[in-house]
Amino acid sequence: MNIAATGNNDDLQIMRDLIRDHQDGFALPRHFYTSQAVYEHDIKAYWNHNWIWVGHVSQIPEPGDYFLFEYGPESIIVVRDRENIVRAHLNVCRHRGSRVCLKESGKAKLFSCPYHAWTYELNGRLRGGRAMGPDFNPADYGLFAANVRVFQGLIFICVADNPPPIDEGLARLAPLTEPYGLERLKIAHSASYPVPANWKLALENYMECYHCAPSHKDYSRSHSLKDPRELEELIAPLKERSVGAGLQPVNLELTGGDAAGPAADIYYRRYPLFPGYKTGSKSGEPLAPLLGQLSGFDGGTTDIQIGPLNNFLAYSDHVVGYRFVPRSMQETDIQIIWMVDQDAEEGRDYDKEMLTWLWHVTSLDDERIIRHNQEGVNSHRFVPGPLAEMEWGIRDFYHGYLRLV
Ligand code: FES
Ligand code: FE
Repeated sequence: MNIAATGNNDDLQIMRDLIRDHQDGFALPRHFYTSQAVYEHDIKAYWNHNWIWVGHVSQIPEPGDYFLFEYGPESIIVVRDRENIVRAHLNVCRHRGSRVCLKESGKAKLFSCPYHAWTYELNGRLRGGRAMGPDFNPADYGLFAANVRVFQGLIFICVADNPPPIDEGLARLAPLTEPYGLERLKIAHSASYPVPANWKLALENYMECYHCAPSHKDYSRSHSLKDPRELEELIAPLKERSVGAGLQPVNLELTGGDAAGPAADIYYRRYPLFPGYKTGSKSGEPLAPLLGQLSGFDGGTTDIQIGPLNNFLAYSDHVVGYRFVPRSMQETDIQIIWMVDQDAEEGRDYDKEMLTWLWHVTSLDDERIIRHNQEGVNSHRFVPGPLAEMEWGIRDFYHGYLRLV
């Protein structure tokens, strides 16, 4: 009997029993954050069945340009092929499984496997297998393709055979995000904050601002989300200013069961910064040139979620993207990507240190609180407590997560 497999099955059975008994509005039990089998199942059932934001078209402007995106045990080659189409391939050789592409990013004419030199075209087709005999048909052994969607320059991939429906949700989001000129962005800076915690704890932390007042002093000076009452008073005047700046004063929330499909999970909401703040800067002053077609600073910022794993914060002059990428059961990379208009020049139009200051210090805070969260959850005595009203985002996440795993 295969003992490891039995242990795995037992763990997944425990997980299913816990899902059956889970009380809506309560945190998840420790098993979800401490079991290797649940972690592997998370990757297979959740990450592989959701859309993942991997980057921006400005990273691969010309045919042959590529970069790798990795999560759990998976590696994806994101490449612009000769026909100018953005494609994504599983970085797994169809011969005996070696990684085909080893360099994080670059420019390629072909992808040649470092093991026995099978060679693939940019579009994933196998050009030839060395000394494979007359009966070998390369057409049968192209790289496995991942699904790709490019939304206003943002690249999303999903490795599932049947990816969750996203097109209708994106079509409804498109007019709201249009004024920000997302397709005109470029990456000003990327940073990764490794945290010794399960990916779900990192994502859950991002989904609530209940912790913002006690944990994020700098953030709380400029962002109003920490207290719903303060927020209410600032919303009406913001709406007026937003329209004046060229934005649509509409919020959008498409969650499970909506017309856009069970996994649309698309969310758009502009909310106010405190008076005196034009953007997420230390002084309140602008950090970079206005984005897209915006005609002024309205003193707001926008939360955008596209699929349950991908979050963006769109200020008037820059966009910050967030991912919480699993590396192992209790290792996660908090990846933060700062984007500005493509014409903005570092040193002249923006200062990288000032641009990244807020979400750098905030992410250091988050790394610390997520780490301590995991340490406490690891205790045998941890029993999940009730969620606060301000933690509604976690509740929504659980609904989708528990349905998929
Ligand atoms: Fe790639 Fe053999 S594993 S050529
Ligand atoms: Fe935080």
